Amino acid sequence: MPTIRVTGRDGEERAVEAEDGLTLMEVIRDNGFDELLALCGGCCSCATCHVHIDPDYAAKLPKMDMDEDDLLESSDHRNETSRLSCQVPITDELDGLKVTIAPED
Ligand code: FES
Repeated sequence: MPTIRVTGRDGEERAVEAEDGLTLMEVIRDNGFDELLALCGGCCSCATCHVHIDPDYAAKLPKMDMDEDDLLESSDHRNETSRLSCQVPITDELDGLKVTIAPED
C-alpha cells in the first residue's frame, strides 16, 4: 500500500496510507483533510479537489485530459504542478508522493 505525504492548508504534512483502487482525492478526503471539498464527488466538474503534486512524480500520473485542463484554468492557484486529485488513481508507483492541497479559490 503506497504512502502519500499530504500537506494541508495549515502547512502541516501528514503521511497517509493509500489503498489501491481509490483516487488521490478519496485518500486525502478520507484521511480527514476537510479543506479538500471535492464537491462533485469526483466527476471532474468542480475543481475543489485541486492539489499541487511533487514534480518528480509527474511522469507517473495519467495524462491530463481536456476537461481537467479546462477546470484548472478557472483557478487562480494553478501552476505547472496542478492536478485535480479525483483524476489521479492510486498505484504502487506513487509510493512516497508529496502532494499539497491548493489554496482556496
Ligand atoms: S472532485 Fe470535483 S473535480 Fe475533482
